[in-house]
Amino acid sequence: MSATIIDGKAAAQDLRARIAALVPDFVTAAGRKPGLTVVLVGEDPASAVYVRSKGVATEAAGMKSDTIRLPAETTQDELLDLVRALNADDSVDGILVQLPLPKQIDENAVIAAIDPDKDVDGFHPVNAGRLATGLPGFVPCTPLGCLMMLKTQLGTLAGREAVVIGRSNIVGKPMAQLLLGESCTVTIAHSKTRDLPAVVRRADIVVAAVGRPEMVQADWIKPGATVIDVGINRIDAGEGKTRLVGDVAFDAVSQVAGAITPVPGGVGPMTIAVLLRNALVAAYRNAGVPLAPDAI
Ligand code: GUN
Repeated sequence: MSATIIDGKAAAQDLRARIAALVPDFVTAAGRKPGLTVVLVGEDPASAVYVRSKGVATEAAGMKSDTIRLPAETTQDELLDLVRALNADDSVDGILVQLPLPKQIDENAVIAAIDPDKDVDGFHPVNAGRLATGLPGFVPCTPLGCLMMLKTQLGTLAGREAVVIGRSNIVGKPMAQLLLGESCTVTIAHSKTRDLPAVVRRADIVVAAVGRPEMVQADWIKPGATVIDVGINRIDAGEGKTRLVGDVAFDAVSQVAGAITPVPGGVGPMTIAVLLRNALVAAYRNAGVPLAPDAI
């Protein structure tokens, strides 16, 4: 069997088009554009690339994008002051502080300082609590993008066995909460899980988010299962070259799975699209403009 390849680029384009179509209604109602502010501290090259692409995508959706760049030696108090100023600024709908932060700054303190209703990353403990208790809030972009792709691929998820490999606050835990919210039977596997292959073999849905290149093997996968690969690992490809691979051994697993996301071109493109979605939802909510619950 050969799996259906889930096209994350196409899914992201579709979501971005739906977002862009909702922006003019907001502008008419609120008299301003939805605004996303991204804060980058220091000169980490990978972060700089991510932040630039977030800005470009925000503008392309017709939204206002601001990027605030601070030097690597910025103190925690300086960053907290900036976050509080952004919280108080009504033209700022969404705030994203790019991680990782320099080591003199406590990431948790910064995340906790962001107004939960502007927390488009969904990292604030209030938003984690809202997700866990089924209240409306912001959900981290990567797992929400994975859920959107799963629902497009499978329709209803209720009753399916889901195994999430990885228990990070950013992907694994919120992914498990989202799948539970869809009435899946959810297992969270991690580095201490006994007989991981046997656990994964139970799954109708596998979400791999561990950061270990090509760890998930073909004989771990129940035939026909849907496999979502969140990993982005750069590995040595010989002759001085590198290539990107996921956490799933794609070529072999795609012979067994029913559907699978590729790396690159799977989960990655959806993450930025969901960020724009969260920023637009923040704008509607914070400006008090009604938005149908299933609009986006
Ligand atoms: N660094 C890498 N990915 C992310 C993300 O999704 N949000 C933030 N704030 N920082 C990141």
